[in-house]
Amino acid sequence: MAQVSRVLDPAPVSSLQDHQRSGGGKALEAARAAEPVAVIEVVEASGLRGRGGAGFPTGTKWRTVAGMGGAEPAVVVINAAEGEPGTFKDRTLLRRNPYKVLEGALIAAHAIAADRIVVGMKRSATVERKSIERAIAELVAAGWDQGITIEVSAQSDRYLLGEETALLEVIAGRPPFPRIAPPYRSGAEQVGDDVTSSAGTELADPEGSTGAPATLVNNVETLANIPAVVFDGPDAFRSLGTAESPGTIICTVTGRTERAGVGEFELGTPLRVVIEELGGPVIGREILGVLSGTANPILPGSALDTPLSWEALAAAGGGLGSAGFIVLDDDVDMVAVAHGVSRFLSVESCGQCTPCKQDGLSITSILDRARTSAPESQDLDELSYLAARITTGARCFLAQQHQLVATSLLQHFPDSLAAHADPNGRGPADAFPIVPLVDIVDDQAVLDLGALEVTPDWSQGNDSGASPAERIDVRSGT
Ligand SMILES: Cc1cc2nc3c(=O)[nH]c(=O)nc-3n(C[C@H](O)[C@H](O)[C@H](O)COP(=O)(O)O)c2cc1C
Ligand code: SF4
Repeated sequence: MAQVSRVLDPAPVSSLQDHQRSGGGKALEAARAAEPVAVIEVVEASGLRGRGGAGFPTGTKWRTVAGMGGAEPAVVVINAAEGEPGTFKDRTLLRRNPYKVLEGALIAAHAIAADRIVVGMKRSATVERKSIERAIAELVAAGWDQGITIEVSAQSDRYLLGEETALLEVIAGRPPFPRIAPPYRSGAEQVGDDVTSSAGTELADPEGSTGAPATLVNNVETLANIPAVVFDGPDAFRSLGTAESPGTIICTVTGRTERAGVGEFELGTPLRVVIEELGGPVIGREILGVLSGTANPILPGSALDTPLSWEALAAAGGGLGSAGFIVLDDDVDMVAVAHGVSRFLSVESCGQCTPCKQDGLSITSILDRARTSAPESQDLDELSYLAARITTGARCFLAQQHQLVATSLLQHFPDSLAAHADPNGRGPADAFPIVPLVDIVDDQAVLDLGALEVTPDWSQGNDSGASPAERIDVRSGT
């Protein structure tokens, strides 16, 4: 078995005592006995990269935030908003051992001199919320918090909640509309009552002169890595993985395999091994491609032996993302998949940037016509034009995701598109649901099919035709 158990405990850790029995708490004690800068140096030396999708070096982020100063103490935000289609690793971690995640966040708080930790999660993540709230109560009762406030914010179910600046907006009581600025320059609660939208947000300058608290946003899995990094040291951490992608990664496999599952693997493990071990045999004859959520170009079946690392997957034309792999076999209609991804992203787009929302919705309509074998004459030209324009002025990565995934599916599978356009070719294909996961039960994925009811204006009722940014009052959030 290629699976390892460094970050993801093999069995649920259901009390603080349980966590302590397996060494929990020692890293926090060691960190607190050290100078904050020494802790940051250890994280830097480990080469740990953020597990939220972008793989940004964690130590670099910590050093930047620690150096911001500002009139108020810093804030640590745990990004537990997981909603990437095909990904269930953060919620598995929060169910399995919330103490480890919180211990990592308390170490981060020591390193950047924060007096507040906020766990940002989806409103619908009730199981994980219960788990983390119980853990917080136990930690506080045991005095681990040392006066640091630890709270949970669970106010939205939108995909954009996971985008870190949108998460900060939601924590500040506004809708999940991404900001232009990096979060460490304009932290949680950094704007006054007179600000009416994130677009109108006054940015804190790099010196923090507006008095905004510097804010560190880290993914659940990133923080769950921290106790071992700090206690065992950088060399032990680097004993697994590759030079550029050290450590392990928690993967999710769903889609057209007999099973769905979550498991931890050494970085550098071939994707094929992960799929075979977690997913078992493919349902159809062969794997045609693998989607890493909705954030990266599709990886064709010919690239299944690519090692899981940021560098190798990028070189293969794909991306690691949040290591949530949706396996697509030869029974799948790739135009239907492209439509499913496009629909998800265009609906979840907030509309602050017009091309992202409007061109995105137009791409979805074209792909829907293609899927149902009812294309219009200009559709192909229009698709290329819109796909090139969609990222214009985009303030977050969602628009680029739309461009990357939709165009890569069509580039790798042009025959699929042509077969739908041919009157004697392929007939209409069923819609392929690309939606977040709710759970994995008895080795099978439970999809959030309710996400298919969300309308482009986020009303879940009759679509008004306005974008969420036009429709939603940023003060009341409705
Ligand atoms: C549309 C969108 C959705 C995202 N969703 C998540 C998410 O659910 N969880 C997460 O940790 N990061 C998510 N991210 C990435 C975050 O913006 C951010 O990079 C991450 O929280 C940083 O943490 P890390 O450095 O520990 O990876 C998303 C980004 C985008 C553009
Ligand atoms: S790029 Fe799209 S999702 Fe991101 S802020 Fe702009 S409109 Fe919203």
